[in-house]
Amino acid sequence: MIERARQIRRGLTETPLIPLADERCDLVVKLEFCNPAGSTKDRSALWILEQAIGRGEITQDTTVVESSSGNFALALAFYCRLLGISFVPVIDPNCNEATEAQLRQLCARVEKVSVRDSAGSYLKTRLSRVQELLVELDSAYWPNQYANPDARDAHYRFTAGELIAQAGPLDYLFVGVGTGGTIAGLSHRIKETYPGCVVVAVDTEGSVIFGGPPKKRRIPGIGSSIVPPLCGQALIDQVEIVSEVRAVEACGALFAKYGVYAGGSTGSSYAAVQDYFARHRPGAHRPRVAFLAADRGHAYARTVYDPTWVQQLRAEAASPAGVEALAAN
Ligand SMILES: Cc1ncc(COP(=O)(O)O)c(C=O)c1O
Repeated sequence: MIERARQIRRGLTETPLIPLADERCDLVVKLEFCNPAGSTKDRSALWILEQAIGRGEITQDTTVVESSSGNFALALAFYCRLLGISFVPVIDPNCNEATEAQLRQLCARVEKVSVRDSAGSYLKTRLSRVQELLVELDSAYWPNQYANPDARDAHYRFTAGELIAQAGPLDYLFVGVGTGGTIAGLSHRIKETYPGCVVVAVDTEGSVIFGGPPKKRRIPGIGSSIVPPLCGQALIDQVEIVSEVRAVEACGALFAKYGVYAGGSTGSSYAAVQDYFARHRPGAHRPRVAFLAADRGHAYARTVYDPTWVQQLRAEAASPAGVEALAAN
């Protein structure tokens, strides 16, 4: 099985790096949504599986169990299917319809929790269900994407390796943070190569990662209701917190201006670039700036790209109910 995993990885091609004509900086976006399972999570899912197979922690009889309501589950479902391993995703009601349907087709068993935890989130409930399944199943493996160093290493080796070769010297790198795996891997490799590169972590209002108060969040992928251990390993120079309304506006702008149809976390990163350089006007030197398009817009057709949903989001953001202390995931 290890040879098969290596073959799959060696067969992957690099994701494109696209220049965007920006007024203030030389801006490039790495289209991580061109990965086979559709997001940046392909990197960590395949590398985590390959490394665990290599260590003998996953065999043909193993069931992989993981808590994820989105891209990581989709990526694991895809690579587990290719490798002939069972996978049980533990999801929650925030999982979008299309993702849940895809997971139900690819996985014989899908566990959906429905009870919110003490923080008003589903994350802790999902993690408890994972622990129960690890006991219940005969041979189970939990990738633990929030703390697995192989997630960080995947981005160090592959995402960052490609970015450096494609982009050349960078002055700024903007990275959306969820589990912190992407920023932990990218920041180390980028600073080894370009020590002066400023790494900007992008988070969303309502996420507690950088110490803000929790509140309801609707855009998946970015933000967290826990402080993920991998995040502490990242080399972060600046933090930009972006509201969901701003992220949605930026998704629309990216699509209208450049045709890049991407998900909410990409909009947050693009908004962070715009907001940062509106405040820190570059001098004579036009900075070279990169960010990632983590996933495609299709899964967000009924949210980020739906005018009725956006109108509701704006109304909630403007009302006191919009600032209730309730985390979405
Ligand atoms: C769309 C999207 N953007 C950004 C991220 C953040 O990546 P990480 O979990 O490595 O911090 C994720 C993670 O799931 C994601 O799905």
